[in-house]
Amino acid sequence: MCGIFGYVNFLVDKNRGEIVDTLIEGLQRLEYRGYDSAGFAVDGKLFNDGDNGEIMSNIIVKCPGKVKVLRQKVADDKIDRSDVFDNHAGIAHTRWATHGQPKEQNCHPHRSDAAKGEFIVVHNGIITNFAALREYLLSKGHQFESETDTECIAKLFKHFYDLNLKAGVSPDFNELTKQVLHELEGSYGLLVKSFHYPGEVCGTRKGSPLLVGVKTDRKLKVDFVDVEFENNASAAVAQQQIGQTLSSLNGPNGATAQDLGFIPVAPGEQNLRTSQSRAFLSEDDLPTPVEFFLSSDPASVVQHTKKVLFLEDDDIAHIYDGELHIHRASTKSAGESTVRPIQTLEMELNEIMKGPFKHFMQKEIFEQPDSTFNTMRGRIDFENNTVTLGGLKAWLPTIRRCRRIIMIACGTSYHSCLATRSIFEELTEIPVSVELASDFLDRRSPVFRDDTCVFVSQSGETADSILALQYCLERGALTVGIVNSVGSSMSRQTHCGVHINAGPEIGVASTKAYTSQYIALVMFALSLSNDSISRAGRHEEIIQGLQKIPDQIKQVLKLEDKIKKLCNDDLNDQKSLLLLGRGYQFATALEGALKIKEISYMHSEGVLAGELKHGVLALVDDKLPIIAFATRDSLFPKTMSAIEQVTARDGRPIVVCNEGDAIISNDKVHTTLEVPQTVDCLQGLLNVIPVQLISYWLAVNRGIDVDFPRNLAKSVTVE
Ligand code: AGP
Repeated sequence: MCGIFGYVNFLVDKNRGEIVDTLIEGLQRLEYRGYDSAGFAVDGKLFNDGDNGEIMSNIIVKCPGKVKVLRQKVADDKIDRSDVFDNHAGIAHTRWATHGQPKEQNCHPHRSDAAKGEFIVVHNGIITNFAALREYLLSKGHQFESETDTECIAKLFKHFYDLNLKAGVSPDFNELTKQVLHELEGSYGLLVKSFHYPGEVCGTRKGSPLLVGVKTDRKLKVDFVDVEFENNASAAVAQQQIGQTLSSLNGPNGATAQDLGFIPVAPGEQNLRTSQSRAFLSEDDLPTPVEFFLSSDPASVVQHTKKVLFLEDDDIAHIYDGELHIHRASTKSAGESTVRPIQTLEMELNEIMKGPFKHFMQKEIFEQPDSTFNTMRGRIDFENNTVTLGGLKAWLPTIRRCRRIIMIACGTSYHSCLATRSIFEELTEIPVSVELASDFLDRRSPVFRDDTCVFVSQSGETADSILALQYCLERGALTVGIVNSVGSSMSRQTHCGVHINAGPEIGVASTKAYTSQYIALVMFALSLSNDSISRAGRHEEIIQGLQKIPDQIKQVLKLEDKIKKLCNDDLNDQKSLLLLGRGYQFATALEGALKIKEISYMHSEGVLAGELKHGVLALVDDKLPIIAFATRDSLFPKTMSAIEQVTARDGRPIVVCNEGDAIISNDKVHTTLEVPQTVDCLQGLLNVIPVQLISYWLAVNRGIDVDFPRNLAKSVTVE
């Protein structure tokens, strides 16, 4: 939910102003994730500290509000831009409040101590044992400035640093980080800097994303970074030599230092660089001028470099002397990868910019002819009516034999599962259930080894969905990820899956991801049943229908002017709105209601048309706006019956129907929104477009900040 960004330059001269601008621009690229405050930390001036000799002071600038407020604060505080650094580590943060109101003392970065700020931290996630840590640290004399869980992390760094000094050892920054992580429970994407380690930064993650972008003019010697596992022998020796010295020291829960996993560097090994990273030496083996960009999201790195390395949970990225080292906060387990590849991001900056549109959301609605095409590109042979999903191919035989398919997601992604459940059951004859991740976990729903659990997520970082994924993995189920964000936790933790290739979705309201998830799931269902001769005709019908979808979406988008007028004239001042759908269109009704609620703040409810007469009909009168989805499919007569129940009570619904289908006399409807006809199981791809546009124009007409709706964030990485 929060955004973190860090910048390290090495042998690349930058003045403080340029560094600050880079940090702030990195935060601006993260704005779309939703946040309520922002801040950064850079080096200040050298001064003689007495205790530590000459050290570099910190400059921390942070405040509630948008990044532009932070930028103004930099100007108001008259931050000196002139000092030049050839090696500097800066960290920055956008916060979405979880612990403590959006106010200055709760903004990140947080510091270990008010006197000197020995350690400074930015954090994305939730430390679930922060109360116990806070109590312990208070008992050791630490003073807190904020109500946040993050501040405990900064103080733990100082606490362990002081413990090491008392024992006469001076740990490497990554060693100190390991000692701190040993104490943390919960989720984190974390960056830490300290004047004890000038020009260095450590970054680590557990359950929240973190990546490192590498920018250098020299060709890297290798396109990966070795993972440096604990050398257990030397650690044991160090531990044995030092352990006795520390044994009297109590840890947060009365444990001894050893219990804390306290593995300091033995005397005499202070600051020895224990390894040389092959990746960052130039051809002549001399240090390479290089810049590193650390972030929770590739969107803030892509304008600098496309060479990125995605960290895994428990990785510690330690950047110093122009090198990136990857350490592990845990000992090596069998089969664990010993390298982290440096990948090339495919995103372009312009994909992240709005283009001719006023908002990301509008851009993404209009991108859907392209994004749906891209989802299918290279995967469907429209000549031979076949589907090939490379990421699933090897697993299809196993999935076909599974006892049931459980689809698990949140929000809009959940609706894409509902929209395709029926076609899955029809084509595979495997029972399919659809679960909201949070409820699935609350019930601790039974899961078995012969289950296939399908996780659908745009961000691939939604905490509820990730926790449900881990729950299913622990029970031995086969897990499939249908994800948009490459390199995300979900795409890396599932056994197999499909990237929906919708391109970056910046608007908080999910639009193009929905239609691409929908198509990816239909392709998945087709793949599972493409060994069935009896269904060849149905396969061909669906595949040929899919081929037309991008152009048909273009056709539906032409309704924008009519929809804009409908919102202006008839919907803007409404307090609530019902959407009626049945069969494949029930998911459309739910998704439309979510869009309208989350973007225009108007109450809205998606209702199964068959349920109308069981209570909801009491709401119907000549005033309540109702949208009814009445496109042609096998349930059309039943849907018409529901519409007649509405019109008999003077309701005048807005009817989404097929082009030219005069299904109902004009005096019985408020208006019709005509869409092309497609295959029944694909019709929801077209019917959802008008309600995406209705939600957008209702929000614009109400002066709402469409891309940053109140209280919401793009990726909900907290439970
Ligand atoms: C969709 O418009 C919402 N922003 C929200 O419901 C979202 O779909 C949900 O949080 C799930 O996100 P995910 O797809 O990234 O997991």
